[in-house]
Amino acid sequence: MNMLNTISGIFTAAVVTTGALLLSSCAELKQDRPLLPVREYERMIVGRLDAEYVGTDNCVSKCHKHEKIADDFRHSLHGEQIKPETGLPLVNCESCHGPGSLAIEKLGDNVEENDEKKVKCDTSTFLDIHNLPTPAQSLICLKCHAAASSPTLAHWTGSVHALNDVGCFDCHKLHRSPRQKVTREETAELCYGCHTEIKAENSLFSHHPIREKKIACTDCHDPHGSVQPHLLKGSTPKELCTRCHMEKQGPFAFEHGDVTENCATCHSPHGSVNNHLLNAAMPFLCLQCHGGHVVTLMPNDPVDKRLFNNRCTDCHSQIHGTDIPAGANNNRGNFLR
Ligand code: HEC
Ligand code: HEC
Ligand code: HEC
Ligand code: HEC
Ligand code: HEC
Ligand code: HEC
Ligand code: HEC
Ligand code: HEC
Ligand code: HEC
Repeated sequence: MNMLNTISGIFTAAVVTTGALLLSSCAELKQDRPLLPVREYERMIVGRLDAEYVGTDNCVSKCHKHEKIADDFRHSLHGEQIKPETGLPLVNCESCHGPGSLAIEKLGDNVEENDEKKVKCDTSTFLDIHNLPTPAQSLICLKCHAAASSPTLAHWTGSVHALNDVGCFDCHKLHRSPRQKVTREETAELCYGCHTEIKAENSLFSHHPIREKKIACTDCHDPHGSVQPHLLKGSTPKELCTRCHMEKQGPFAFEHGDVTENCATCHSPHGSVNNHLLNAAMPFLCLQCHGGHVVTLMPNDPVDKRLFNNRCTDCHSQIHGTDIPAGANNNRGNFLR
């Protein structure tokens, strides 16, 4: 009995101690700290553990051809000296290109001197930024642009772009200008570059005014990933469209079944050969789901004066929903008004 008590005592003590240890190591793990400082990883990728960080001033003062790059960079959001007090990381040339000491080893102190001697910095000692696999390229950016600091990237990892080998550099051209963000004006051309079928749809007779720059791809899509299929923004397909087309939102007393929950049931968002971005011409659009019918205009009309009605929405004009019942004492709507 005593023996058992002792054993269970020891056991309990052991469990408690292990538990406490586990808890404390969990706390340790929870700390948002990489196992090795990022800089160590970069040295490893470069393959030279003896490379050192020398600072942007050195890169710029010693290498002539970087003048425009350096100037753009200074005027960019990245280049603004983000103060340590803000807790934001300081961004400099080496944050993306890796440690630079080996590159400038053979260089003199200033550009003129180096130009005269025709010595250039040895770019082979930097990260091979063009030839890294796409996910590794993106990691260069993601080490700072984690979901916590850049909410827009919260769904990046599982996004159709990331999974199909599209990376940050494909869309963000870091040195083309002081802007690192893709502007609204240049978005469509950027996207058309890979999505030629969408460009074709946008050129059809009826189209959302994307080419006219009234709306942008990014009004409807988040290229960095989203919770909806097709990188769509919004919480539901309907919610996305009714951000701009509020009058179609409802709720209406008489909804069109549940077909209006996804506007794409009837509309092609990028463009269509039919009026109003419709997927199919009238009456075929409606005839996919309904039988056609004839309407007796006057109660006593002979049969041959009845009309087979092709232009359904001439009469059913409130096709997106209505609050007006089909008739007095009627509990359904027919979208006539
Ligand atoms: C935010 C990341 C980032 C920062 C900061 C950055 N670069 Fe770059 N740099 C890139 C990327 C990505 C490329 C290649 C693709 C491109 O041009 O967009 C590149 C390309 C270059 C090139 C052309 C070399 C080549 O192989 O195409 C030079 C030169 C260069 N950078 C110099 C600099 C200098 C100098 C600084 C600091 C003033 C700097 N970079 C800061 C990301 C960065
Ligand atoms: C060393 C950290 C660091 C690295 C590496 C880095 N960024 Fe940034 N980036 C920042 C900070 C800090 C800001 C400013 C605060 C913010 O907007 O989150 C910023 C801002 C931006 C912006 C917004 C600019 C604007 O005008 O609104 C874009 C776009 C951007 N970065 C893209 C990139 C891309 C693409 C890469 C990879 C080539 C990259 N960054 C690498 C730290 C970094
Ligand atoms: C398919 C093209 C594409 C890819 C790939 C892409 N971006 Fe962007 N990014 C854009 C566009 C377009 C914008 C402008 C968004 C807008 O106007 O809503 C943008 C905006 C941003 C911004 C600014 C966000 C803000 O709210 O101001 C940051 C930061 C950024 N991207 C970082 C990245 C990083 C890091 C990667 C890689 C992990 C990346 N992007 C990959 C197209 C892309
Ligand atoms: C008005 C909102 C809207 C705009 C603007 C928009 N899209 Fe779409 N896009 C959608 C919707 C909705 C879908 C899903 C279609 C479906 O469910 O059939 C989609 C689907 C896609 C698809 C998947 C393939 C397909 O055809 O279904 C691609 C690729 C795409 N869009 C690219 C783009 C590009 C590139 C632009 C800018 C030139 C753009 N979109 C502008 C709403 C939009
Ligand atoms: C470097 C090429 C490239 C660029 C630039 C690019 N995309 Fe893509 N995009 C792809 C690839 C590859 C896929 C995955 C294969 C596919 O569905 O076509 C994809 C998929 C998509 C899809 C999802 C298609 C689906 O059926 O789920 C949408 C939406 C989309 N891209 C929108 C955009 C928008 C908006 C832009 C501009 C901001 C853009 N893309 C820029 C290459 C690109
Ligand atoms: C960012 C705002 C915006 C969003 C989001 C948006 N649209 Fe539009 N839509 C417009 C604008 C602007 C027009 C053009 C209006 C005009 O020219 O009078 C338009 C026109 C239309 C038209 C009428 C075309 C015609 O020729 O009569 C239809 C149909 C349409 N949108 C459907 C949709 C659908 C479906 C969605 C969701 C996939 C959607 N819209 C999302 C802004 C938006
Ligand atoms: C059952 C098919 C159907 C569905 C689903 C549908 N529409 Fe329509 N929509 C039409 C038809 C048909 C027209 C043309 C109306 C006409 O000819 O008078 C139209 C026209 C439009 C127009 C342009 C004319 C106007 O009335 O302003 C907009 C904008 C529009 N729809 C937006 C939407 C939105 C947003 C959704 C999703 C909430 C949606 N549609 C869902 C069939 C549909
Ligand atoms: C994707 C299938 C689909 C398409 C396309 C469609 N509808 Fe409907 N429609 C429905 C459904 C489902 C209902 C609800 C039926 C019910 O509740 O019994 C409905 C209901 C109706 C009603 C009311 C009938 C009733 O008994 O209350 C009318 C009228 C109508 N649709 C007309 C149209 C017209 C006109 C078009 C073309 C512009 C159209 N529909 C396109 C599926 C569709
Ligand atoms: C000339 C006007 C007119 C046109 C055009 C028209 N309808 Fe109707 N439709 C009506 C009227 C009126 C009713 C109501 C009949 C009733 O409530 O008994 C109706 C009722 C309906 C209903 C409900 C039927 C039911 O069982 O109560 C559907 C579905 C419908 N129409 C579909 C269509 C389609 C699809 C088209 C185009 C092919 C079309 N309509 C064209 C006037 C029209």
